[in-house]
Amino acid sequence: MFNSSLYRNRRQRLITLMQRGIAVIPTAPEVLRNGDAHYPYRFDSHFHYLTGFDEPEAVLVLVAGAPAQSILFCREKDMEREIWDGFRYGPAAAREKFGFDAAFPIAELDDKLTELMGNQPALFHPLGKHAVWDDRILALRARVQAQVRSGITAPNEIHDVRTLLDEMRLIKDKDELATLRRAAAISTAAHQRAMRATRPGKMEYEIEAELLHEFRSQGAQAPAYTSIVAGGANACVLHYISNNTQLKDGDLLLIDAACEMDGYATDITRTFPINGKFSAAQKDVYEIVLAAQATAIAAARPGAHWNEPHDAAVRVLVQGLIDLKLCHGSVDAVLESGSYKRFYMHRTGHWLGMDVHDVGNYKLEGNWRLLQPGMVLTVEPGCYIRPADDVPSAFWNIGIRIEDDVAITTQGCEVLTEAAPKTVAAIEALMQRP
Ligand code: GLY
Ligand code: MN
Ligand code: MN
Repeated sequence: MFNSSLYRNRRQRLITLMQRGIAVIPTAPEVLRNGDAHYPYRFDSHFHYLTGFDEPEAVLVLVAGAPAQSILFCREKDMEREIWDGFRYGPAAAREKFGFDAAFPIAELDDKLTELMGNQPALFHPLGKHAVWDDRILALRARVQAQVRSGITAPNEIHDVRTLLDEMRLIKDKDELATLRRAAAISTAAHQRAMRATRPGKMEYEIEAELLHEFRSQGAQAPAYTSIVAGGANACVLHYISNNTQLKDGDLLLIDAACEMDGYATDITRTFPINGKFSAAQKDVYEIVLAAQATAIAAARPGAHWNEPHDAAVRVLVQGLIDLKLCHGSVDAVLESGSYKRFYMHRTGHWLGMDVHDVGNYKLEGNWRLLQPGMVLTVEPGCYIRPADDVPSAFWNIGIRIEDDVAITTQGCEVLTEAAPKTVAAIEALMQRP
């Protein structure tokens, strides 16, 4: 059931933060793929966060002041176009359903905006996000400026509205957390399905198809990002997306894949043996990454700073690499020299929300920011071992990452994606073959 008050409240909060002026927030354009075929349409996250409105060719305008106004510009009803492309609300029905103060056809945007911008002290806009809109809005501001002899002034200040919106989006409300939990349930089911389907001889893309099947058959709109299904050495290519290699007995399979559900992304990685049973060397490395992840998750709690989970994970990884004789010296010496970075070269997480790498600053005034309830992040340590003379061959081409999504709570954190098996015992049990 659509709840327009949720979005109305967000718009009101943004107006309060703006204090004065006018905000212009367009949704994303449709993008041509080739010929007459478009990429699947995905709305702009900031626009959707404030409106709940899915259609392209729409712009939200907020005017602070008494009375504050929330105005939608959208496509008109058009029976001819609707026969080809499907339902569109049109301004009247959109205003009613989504709770705007007013709604107008998108074709009237320039004229109405010229009026609305007049005598406003400040203009808020996602500066630099869509170059076309930057140009258009500055041109409209120039049109307002041209009315100076009529006593009308144009906004003197231009602000990036994302400075305010990103901070709002960083703290997820209970509706957002509920959507993230639904997305997580589908994504974890997809990982279980992929584990069950995996066996030597299959192609990586066949496993990718299992993931996509689960996403769509449970109602998720899309994968949140291109799925990584990386067998054997492919797992050491961090952004491997070709997914076209045959799976080999004795190798590991790394899957980094998750769905987007109602505008919210999940992001999960699991690594497991293609034949269902970890080898001794695979298990040695896997247990280190798993311990690093558990330590990082324990460090994801309110009051900890952003980098604490990363620091905690790296210390455990480094100790493990020393124990396996892949790094040498004391933990502090290895951390100092950075010699572990040939095996662990990425960070341990990122914000997660409407975007898989979600908005929000990681530092405030030069310091890592503190975690607080409602923030959602990934915890994703890994270890990637390429063949080298100084590395025992048993470890060659082992690439492991374990990634979960966690929501910070008042007590610590909730692991949204824990239903995807990750202990050696749980994985081997799930993959057991009759
Ligand atoms: N799947 C993207 C990431 O893990 O950051
Ligand atoms: Mn991630
Ligand atoms: Mn990922």
